[in-house]
Amino acid sequence: MRDPAIRVILLPKDTNSRGTIFGGILLSHLDLAGAVEAAKNTNQRFVTVALKEVVFKHPVHVGEVVSFYTSTKRIGHTSITVIVDVEVVRGDGEVKVTEAEVTYVCVNAEGRPIPVVLKERR
Ligand SMILES: CC(C)(COP(=O)(O)OP(=O)(O)OC[C@H]1O[C@@H](n2cnc3c(N)ncnc32)[C@H](O)[C@@H]1OP(=O)(O)O)[C@@H](O)C(=O)NCCC(=O)NCCS
Repeated sequence: MRDPAIRVILLPKDTNSRGTIFGGILLSHLDLAGAVEAAKNTNQRFVTVALKEVVFKHPVHVGEVVSFYTSTKRIGHTSITVIVDVEVVRGDGEVKVTEAEVTYVCVNAEGRPIPVVLKERR
């Protein structure tokens, strides 16, 4: 069984005016989950530069178990790009509700991009 980067249960405070989960809440968790994946690659400090291709395929409901699965798509000169798949348990299986691509940039103490230094082992 796959291990997600993070898994959460969302609450009534996380809903929109229709009573389903607010997309901005999922974006926040997406960003954190992607950062967990990026941190598997490097010990450097990094910041989020872009959340791309975020697709909200299905609504998420209060109380559902929401899993954020991640994989590293690309390691560039200063950036690490991660795919995040968001799935909820429904019925006998998991349904993909959201997917996104998140890019992080390694930065120095002044916040300027620096080359990615990979961890020796993942
Ligand atoms: C991230 C930041 C340091 C990048 O600075 P920059 O001068 O634009 O950097 P560069 O143009 O040299 O690009 C750095 C890397 O980011 C990538 N990048 C820049 N813009 C990107 C975008 N829109 N989408 C994907 N990657 C992007 C570049 O391709 C490059 O990657 P590479 O070196 O692996 O090829 C700067 O934009 C910043 O500080 N942004 C705010 C970050 C932040 O505060 N995030 C928290 C949320 S607000």
